[in-house]
Amino acid sequence: MSEITLPPDEQDRPQEDNQPRRALVRQLALQAAAVFLVLSLAWPFYFLRAAEWHWATVSAVTGAVAFLAARLSRQPWWWQLIHLLFVPLLWVGLQFNISPLWYLGAFMLLLLVFRGAATGQIPLYLSGANAAGRLRPLLTEGSALLDVGAGIASLLLPLAKMRPDLKLAGIDNAPLPWLVGWLRTRSTGIGWFWGDFWKHSLAPYQAVYCFLSPAPMRALWAKACREMPPGSLFISNAFPVDDATEDAEILEDPETGLMLYVYKIGGEAAANA
Ligand SMILES: C[S@@+](CC[C@H](N)C(=O)[O-])C[C@H]1O[C@@H](n2cnc3c(N)ncnc32)[C@H](O)[C@@H]1O
Repeated sequence: MSEITLPPDEQDRPQEDNQPRRALVRQLALQAAAVFLVLSLAWPFYFLRAAEWHWATVSAVTGAVAFLAARLSRQPWWWQLIHLLFVPLLWVGLQFNISPLWYLGAFMLLLLVFRGAATGQIPLYLSGANAAGRLRPLLTEGSALLDVGAGIASLLLPLAKMRPDLKLAGIDNAPLPWLVGWLRTRSTGIGWFWGDFWKHSLAPYQAVYCFLSPAPMRALWAKACREMPPGSLFISNAFPVDDATEDAEILEDPETGLMLYVYKIGGEAAANA
């Protein structure tokens, strides 16, 4: 069998990020299996008693079974929640005769905001002035910092105020957060990029900041080691690089308890990446 060689950009991506469709198909299969299981048990139950189907119960049990399956197969917490609520909410929605266009609209809105969660297991949550304050003393005069997955620029804006000497930039690929970030940064001098951070070169930056999820950390660290100049900083809020945790300087936030993991490119951890 011949081996498939991915282009360098694709090699950087974690496996899950390469195959978002496969991840979605897995979740759909899990939900479908729960529906199938509950219906095939409910059918003889109601049929043998010649009883009316109690759809509220059937949908609640389906939600519970899907949740259990998601939990046992260790899906991320937001998928567990989606599995728990999907069929029960469908049932609730049907009681109100809501137009299907509302569902489509809600789905589109979620996709516009949470594209990163659907395609790369990276949801949207924000760091802010507090995290900016923790970065402030770590960055050398005039250095360039990129926030990979910059959301609505909630880190970059306060950091720009605290350290006007820095050259700041952010990149995001979720349409709505990107648009909000663009509006907020357009007159600030912050570089604001649309797109996939896996395809964006990290070479021009002396510091990269990320607040993502455990899923992309190992591949992102490898990308940083390949592309960033020696001595530059790779800083992750809350999520360590598993293989390199021991080499990080770990700074705990006394207010939130969140850790900031600071790695130096060219150090021992980078040599092993
Ligand atoms: C947890 S939020 C962090 C936002 C911001 N950095 C902060 O600290 O406030 C992660 C962001 O990464 C974005 N994201 C996920 N995958 C991405 C990708 N492949 N390319 C660009 N942005 C991505 C999501 O859209 C989301 O806005």
